[in-house]
Amino acid sequence: MATLIAGSLLQAGCSDRSPAPAAAAVDAPASATFDTSIDTRQLMSWVVDPSSKVVFGAVASIVTEKGEEEIQPRTDDEWNNARNHAAVLIEAGNSLMLAGRARNPKIQDQQDWNAKARAMSAAARVAIEATDVKDAEALFAASGDIYQTCTDCHAKYIFTPEPSAAQ
Ligand code: HEC
Repeated sequence: MATLIAGSLLQAGCSDRSPAPAAAAVDAPASATFDTSIDTRQLMSWVVDPSSKVVFGAVASIVTEKGEEEIQPRTDDEWNNARNHAAVLIEAGNSLMLAGRARNPKIQDQQDWNAKARAMSAAARVAIEATDVKDAEALFAASGDIYQTCTDCHAKYIFTPEPSAAQ
């Protein structure tokens, strides 16, 4: 009985007499199903910036009166925290490519925008690989590469730089 129902459903799906709706479903922009109510600026200051700070701050040398202090993740929790925030950056890169996220409709070069978003994700991916093997130096290097992807995109796509955007 169950097989029969499944079979007839399948048939109903295949014997579509009007191909128009099926074609429309394929053509519909994928973003129609995504919530992009957080705009690019909010995505930056609420998601990208906070997570990047965790990744950037994970490995550092701090010079104090007592001398140089090496900051780096030491416990599993600390390594995982750096990894988790690098993962947020990967996903933020994906989110940046959703239709409507490019800051300004004047941005014609969606491909270039996407490439810059993907570069951030790729650099964050390298950071995750560094946390996988608990390599602080590699994580530090990846942070520098991530930062470069921030400035690359900002250099081209922030049309009216505000003081806050510089930090
Ligand atoms: C693909 C492009 C792109 C990448 C990559 C990118 N940004 Fe941005 N960012 C923008 C744009 C566009 C704006 C301006 C948004 C606006 O004001 O509408 C912006 C704005 C900002 C702002 C200012 C937000 C505000 O409230 O004014 C901060 C902070 C920021 N980005 C941080 C970062 C950091 C940190 C990274 C890297 C980890 C990064 N961004 C990567 C495109 C990008």
